[in-house]
Amino acid sequence: MPKGASKRPGKVPAAAGAARAKPWSGRFGEPVDALVKRFTASIAFDQRLARHDIAGSLAHARMLAAGGILSGADLAAIERGMGAIGAEIEAGTFAWSLDAEDVHTNIERRLTELVGDAGKRLHTARSRNDQVATDVRLWLREEIDAIRAQLARLCEQLLAQAERHAALVMPGFTHLQVAQPVTFGHHLLAYVEMFERDRARLADCRRRTNVLPLGAAALAGTTFAIDREHVARELGFEAIAENSLDAVSDRDFAIEFAACAALIMVHLSRFAEELVLWMNPRFGFVRLPDRFCTGSSIMPQKKNPDVPELVRGKSGRVFGDLVALLALMKAQPLAYNKDNQEDKEPLFDAVDTVRDSLAAFEPLTAGIEPRPAAMRAAAAEGFSTATDLADYLVRKGLAFRDAHEIVAHVVREAEATGCDLADLPLSVLQRYSVAIGEDVYAALTLEGSVAGRDHVGGTAPRQVRKAIARARARLAAER
Ligand code: ARG
Repeated sequence: MPKGASKRPGKVPAAAGAARAKPWSGRFGEPVDALVKRFTASIAFDQRLARHDIAGSLAHARMLAAGGILSGADLAAIERGMGAIGAEIEAGTFAWSLDAEDVHTNIERRLTELVGDAGKRLHTARSRNDQVATDVRLWLREEIDAIRAQLARLCEQLLAQAERHAALVMPGFTHLQVAQPVTFGHHLLAYVEMFERDRARLADCRRRTNVLPLGAAALAGTTFAIDREHVARELGFEAIAENSLDAVSDRDFAIEFAACAALIMVHLSRFAEELVLWMNPRFGFVRLPDRFCTGSSIMPQKKNPDVPELVRGKSGRVFGDLVALLALMKAQPLAYNKDNQEDKEPLFDAVDTVRDSLAAFEPLTAGIEPRPAAMRAAAAEGFSTATDLADYLVRKGLAFRDAHEIVAHVVREAEATGCDLADLPLSVLQRYSVAIGEDVYAALTLEGSVAGRDHVGGTAPRQVRKAIARARARLAAER
């Protein structure tokens, strides 16, 4: 304490207290360098935690008051001040300042301006280290819920389209070569599976995100008799971080989220890539509404699938966010390090990118218009019912390997003739196997092929409709 300062508790020398920009500047002999101030500040991006910072502070203050660590009058002043600050932020009139470094200090400083000494007492038994970890978890918890709701809506659109086109035949591909006929509904349901897994992963990640760090203080805990259960209850945390060192330094939840986000983007990018291919006239499988496409400034005829392309491209940034967070945490010694301030931008970017991409894909999915004729023609072109012919021969008593060999020769015949398997006359087919009879044609049609795959997980329209009902029931059960 500087010479001549009052020794009475709660008083700070006027010279030191009045114009103090930083809550820690008392220890320093000169103001911080301007570049360092800008370099170390996070206010440009952590402002978006403000609402959660206020919620965390209020819960902390109420706990302190309940435990007699803070007076009822101070709590009332803090609640009044935080109410005013929340309104200022909402209205866009809050004066964010670089001098105050980050969201926590900005809000605390304004609180003290508004309510005086009560504002200075708020930080009792707390550190920005446990405060920021709490804020980020509160914020992310909310975003996870929003993303899970978006995924559910996307699944609903996919299910609606799958229902409309449960029996619409298209070629299924392996190696991007025509393989076997499937239905468009069945194809879309594959994405429902992916997005359902994404929802489940996020629910799991949410459980580990929803753990309260507050109470860890800087790293070792606090000498005050705090009630962490009280804070957890008030903020809706389902558990309390067990170890104070881990509480302030753990960012696993952010990495887990980014991994979930990266997988969502992988799934969206696969769907996006298919839409780009399908829109190409060589495929011509779908039409996308004009409102999701853009034109070319030079080529008047162009209609480009920009939205799927951009989502495909944006998947890369989210993978980058994940890698940035992993690299950020690698080899960090315990406990909090300033490095951790770098967690926010990748995390925010991952959330923003996933949310925008899902927001674009929901109406886009609803707007997909399949072109049945082009799908059929492509399915009919690639001898896609060859496996059905082999299965037919097996049912007539041949071993599958022998049947495979026979059908390979039939395919060569059809290829040389320039027709589909179903167009070959019975007499020609029987040259390859006497087991073949008139009933073979039922198996060789596209409809016969898909209808034959009539088991759970198969592409038969009957099964597609059942799968849709089950998926809807799963979504409803989670509401
Ligand atoms: N802005 C900081 C962050 O985002 C808050 C915690 C700062 N703690 C500290 N001891 N410098 O991590």
